[in-house]
Amino acid sequence: MASDISSLLTEGRPSASAANRARRAAETAAFAEAVLDGLARRPRSIPSRFLYDAAGSVLFEEITKLKEYYPTRTETKMLETFGAEIAEHVGDTETLVEFGSGSSRKTSLLIDALPSLDTYIPIDVSEDVLMDAAKRLSGKHPGLTVRPLVGDFTRRRTLIGAPRGDKLGFFSGSTIGNLTHKEAKTFLENAARLLGQGSAFLIGVDLKKSLDVLIPAYDDEDGVTAAFSLNLLSRINRELDGDFDTARFAHVALYNADKGRIEIYLKSLADQKVHVLGRRFTFSTGERIHTENSHKYTVAEFQELAHSSGWRPVTAWIDEDDLFSLHLLQLS
Ligand code: SAH
Ligand code: TRP
Repeated sequence: MASDISSLLTEGRPSASAANRARRAAETAAFAEAVLDGLARRPRSIPSRFLYDAAGSVLFEEITKLKEYYPTRTETKMLETFGAEIAEHVGDTETLVEFGSGSSRKTSLLIDALPSLDTYIPIDVSEDVLMDAAKRLSGKHPGLTVRPLVGDFTRRRTLIGAPRGDKLGFFSGSTIGNLTHKEAKTFLENAARLLGQGSAFLIGVDLKKSLDVLIPAYDDEDGVTAAFSLNLLSRINRELDGDFDTARFAHVALYNADKGRIEIYLKSLADQKVHVLGRRFTFSTGERIHTENSHKYTVAEFQELAHSSGWRPVTAWIDEDDLFSLHLLQLS
């Protein structure tokens, strides 16, 4: 099945090896399947990883610089402030494995704090941004071996070619919040197996907070987040022969208090018909496609989730404005 092949982690290399070509073809097939299924289903939904094609990753990088988007600058500052304390716990680790590494900008701070690191394995589904980051980090940290892996981090897998010994996992940007509680538990269980006994996991988790702060972070004044969201429809047009009119859809971000999460939708602004790969889909005004969840946790809630997934919560750091948390978990 196509989605199985797409889950293979191939070592990202600039050359278009047969394995890389096969993975790209499989990823497009998985995208097609997800979109055709997701648009036929009620409620309509498309998995969030498809937001991150090359254009989506560039737009996400713009989100991280917005005044409304507090997570990136807060987590960055926390890594600067608490880097030495983190190192006290995991000081002699040689291998760093990062899930959803994106531009790896924050990772440099962690690498600087951990002088014994010799291998960095960033994993991301967005190949261009991953390869650019790998190149940049190799240049910035001479002596560090960087082994980028392209693929879906929610799949069970083993690390190809990773050195033996204790590892440090890193999952930043509250990307774990983009998984449901059940998915997050499965992810943490898989990560435990992947990293192995004796390993540690540093996870950035966004905290519950006032909606005055939360909503603008996902619906900024300049419309950068809206552009990121709508790029999913443009990607369907580019890759799946779609004819979405992006002017007739709107980005919606709302807080679901029962589920403790931001929910992101694309809402139809008209009664309209859209075609994807020759199939026709009818939208009525106001009808929505769900594209993302961003769960918010109290420290206790996240520690409970980690504990139930086989990890031992060791420390949780919080910034001075109570916006964001950094959790250190261990396997022992
Ligand atoms: N860690 C970075 C990027 C966060 S954005 C930061 O904190 O700024 C989420 C990243 O995870 C993107 O780079 C996206 O391409 C990647 N991603 C999302 N879903 C993924 C999946 N299922 N498998 C692998 N990577 C994924
Ligand atoms: N991990 C990010 C978060 O939940 C992802 C994200 C930020 C996002 N802004 C978004 C996803 C807007 C979809 C739409 O904070």
